[in-house]
Amino acid sequence: MNYRHAFHAGNHCDVLKHAALAIVLARLALKEKPFSVIDTHAGRGLYDLDGSEAGRSGEHRGGVARLIDDPAAPASLRPYLDCVRRQNPFGGLRWYPGSPVMIKDMLRKGDSAKFCELQPEERLALQTTVGAHGAIRVYDRDGYEAVRAFLPPVERRGLVLIDPPFEKPGEFDRLSEAVEDGVKRWASGVFMIWRPIKDEDGYARFLEAVRHLSLEKTLIAELSVAPRMAGKLTGSGLYVINPPFGLADAFAELLPYLAARLATASGGGWRLEEIEKGAAIRDLAGEA
Ligand SMILES: C[S@@+](CC[C@H](N)C(=O)[O-])C[C@H]1O[C@@H](n2cnc3c(N)ncnc32)[C@H](O)[C@@H]1O
Repeated sequence: MNYRHAFHAGNHCDVLKHAALAIVLARLALKEKPFSVIDTHAGRGLYDLDGSEAGRSGEHRGGVARLIDDPAAPASLRPYLDCVRRQNPFGGLRWYPGSPVMIKDMLRKGDSAKFCELQPEERLALQTTVGAHGAIRVYDRDGYEAVRAFLPPVERRGLVLIDPPFEKPGEFDRLSEAVEDGVKRWASGVFMIWRPIKDEDGYARFLEAVRHLSLEKTLIAELSVAPRMAGKLTGSGLYVINPPFGLADAFAELLPYLAARLATASGGGWRLEEIEKGAAIRDLAGEA
C-alpha cells in the first residue's frame, strides 16, 4: 500500500467529498436522536499543508486554498469552511481536516464514530489525532470487512463513508460487494461513496451492480476541473444512497460554484443526478 493521502489533502476531490460530508453531518445533527458514522478508509485525520508531502504536491492550491477566503462562497459550503477554519484558529490555512477530524468535530454527545485504517503509520497518527474513547474508535481493519462487521449500528441512524484509494485493480468490484452487503444489513443508512473520474469501465460495472438493489433514493454528484482524459484524474464523483433531505438542493447550489472556482484553464464541469426508485427525477449538468 503506497497511497499517502497527504499528497492530495485539500485538493478538488477532497473539497467535493468533505463539503458533502459536512452537509450530511450537519443534517444528521438536526434531529436529537444520536447517530453513528463509519469511515471505512479513514487516513491520518489531519494534514499539514506546509508539510513535506502536501507542500511538495501543492494540490490544495487548486482546491481549498481557492475557497477559504472567498466572500462569495455559497451557504452550502459554510459547514465545510467553518470546519477547516476551526482547525486554523489563528487564521491562515495550514491544517487541513481529513474525514475523521471533520467527523469528530461535528459529533455531538451521544453520537459515535468508527474509523478503519490499514496503513500502520497513518493509523497511529489517526489515533493520536482523534484519540480513542468510548464513542470514537480506530480499527486496524479492512474497511470493506468493517461494513459487514459493524452494520447496522445500534443508533440505527447515520452514515457510512467509503473512500478507497483506488490504487489496486478490482477496487470497484470490492466496493459494489460491500455496498450490496451494507444496504442489505442497513437499508435506511446513508452511504456516501467517493470515486475518481478516471476508470470509467470500473465505475460502469459498479453502477450496474448497484442498480439491482432497488434503492429508494440515490444522488450522483460529479465535479471536474478539466476535460476528461484517459488515465488522468480530472475530477471525482460521489454516489450517495439515502441522501438526507436537502442534500440534492445543496449540491445544486454547490456544484456550479465549485466548478467555476476550481476549473483549470482548459475548463471544468459538473453533473447532478437524483434518482428515485430507479428513475431520474433531476438530471442537471453544466460547464465551467
Ligand atoms: C483516500 S484515503 C482516505 C482519506 C480520508 N477518507 C479523508 O477523507 O480524509 C484512503 C485511505 O485508506 C487506507 N486504506 C487502503 N486500503 C484500505 C482498506 N482495505 N481498509 C481500510 N483502509 C484502507 C489508505 O492507507 C488511505 O489512508
